[in-house]
Amino acid sequence: MKFIVNPITVFIILIVLGSCKNKEQKSATTIETTDMEYYMEPYRPQFHFSPEEKWMNDPNGMVYHKGMYHLFYQYHPDDIVWGPMHWGHATSRDLVHWEHKPIALFPDVHGHIFSGSSVVDKNNTSGFGTTENPPLVAIFTYHLMEGEKSGRTDFQTQGIAYSLDNGDTWTKYEGNPVIGNEGIKDFRDPKVMWHEASRKWVMTLVAGDHAKFYGSQDLKQWELIGDFGKDKGAHGGVWECPDLIPMKVEGSEEEKWVLLISINPGAPNGGSGTQYFVGDFDGNTFSTAQKETQWVDWGTDNYAGVTFSNTPRGEHIFIGWMSNWTYAQVTPTEKWRSAMTLPRKLSLKKIGGKYKLFNYPIDAFPIKDIGNLDNEVFLKPDQKLNFEYANLNTSEIVFKTILNDFKIAICNPMGEELVLIFDAENNILKLDRSNSGKVDFHEKFGIPIQEMPVENLPNEAFEVRIILDLSSIELFLNKGQYAMTAQIFPNAPFNTITFENTSSENHSFKRYRVQAIERIWQSQ
Ligand code: FRU
Repeated sequence: MKFIVNPITVFIILIVLGSCKNKEQKSATTIETTDMEYYMEPYRPQFHFSPEEKWMNDPNGMVYHKGMYHLFYQYHPDDIVWGPMHWGHATSRDLVHWEHKPIALFPDVHGHIFSGSSVVDKNNTSGFGTTENPPLVAIFTYHLMEGEKSGRTDFQTQGIAYSLDNGDTWTKYEGNPVIGNEGIKDFRDPKVMWHEASRKWVMTLVAGDHAKFYGSQDLKQWELIGDFGKDKGAHGGVWECPDLIPMKVEGSEEEKWVLLISINPGAPNGGSGTQYFVGDFDGNTFSTAQKETQWVDWGTDNYAGVTFSNTPRGEHIFIGWMSNWTYAQVTPTEKWRSAMTLPRKLSLKKIGGKYKLFNYPIDAFPIKDIGNLDNEVFLKPDQKLNFEYANLNTSEIVFKTILNDFKIAICNPMGEELVLIFDAENNILKLDRSNSGKVDFHEKFGIPIQEMPVENLPNEAFEVRIILDLSSIELFLNKGQYAMTAQIFPNAPFNTITFENTSSENHSFKRYRVQAIERIWQSQ
């Protein structure tokens, strides 16, 4: 076997019989730097977006304008638990490095600012700007706390605000709310797009157990044009955060519409998750022939994800909130709480006669090789192979394999491990974080083992990509055909990967790469 090893890093390969467990106990690593303290608190994601401090949930208003990607987000500036919602704001030129901006939208007499979207009103249909300086228009839900507390059902309405200085300052429309409420308790999360075929703005929003569509010429006056979903898809909880996206089926001229719907609870591994439908949109309503429920991501921690509007090449770039309402408010961080998933490119493919939405990280993160094996690595039945590194905490592990019975354990010197189990007989991939570090802050965090049924994976070797940040794992099979995202809180850095062949036949993997991903944060 020939190993190609990057000389700058410590890379030891060992074939051992033992597993990661039963190692000597060492205390958690502490970070001792001073000028590098920014974004260095325990569990602080190094290359994922998180707010400098306090509570964050859903991504909101994601839009590209004048060379800048804007990420707004549900934000509670006074605490690390959910509370009166504002829109926090950050900008990026490359979707990798982010600059924090002042809070964009504050609560007002109509209520707190819940989730929503933004658009570039290029033709100044709203009249808020000019065609030379088109306004950015944010469309969001107002949540009137007093209304909710007094037992009313009409406390969620839709409002708009505009910015003429590329998102720096925002003015609320004096005619708010632009859509009132006739008594629907959960009536929120407007996502707006320009529908060229019918030459109007189309808003998708959710109303408890279904989506509603509204049309407008000016973003101010809205008319109900359709609804979808009472009898379709998963209904284990409330529908939230929709997104309606026109997509070309890859390798063909076929156009379909994808409708993302987050649901809480009712996700396949408990709590919050995002389902999708592939179908058609006729300018008024969405329809689909899809029978089974499809999920964007099978892990516990990818919620409320939607796509950017107005992207330069018309790409569909998705970001989700990397948490789950089941335990989001008690995760073991102190200064801030929650991060976003990596930005992921969505694509639509037809596989085994079914439309399948792929999601896969954008290719923009600076990486550095830690260890590469170009040759195929063979494992006999029951054989285990350990790879040890100085630190695996901010890295990606990529290799190619066919679906077979095998197990990957990513471990630290404290005996904590994150385990992936490939069960080829049942076509299931399992993620076990029960012994991955801190899990006891909530009874449902560690258990049960998360499961992802996989079908129609290629018969030949496909890519497995595992991305680890200080408090997350994102797993992608076959370049995004399947995704699984989960938070983790290990007490020491991971430093070992064990591959174990649990089948009765020889098993191999190839093109094994381990790459460090560069930290994106610098004191601002
Ligand atoms: C989804 C959600 C949205 C709502 C927002 C409130 O996580 O519940 O439906 O607008 O969070 O913060």
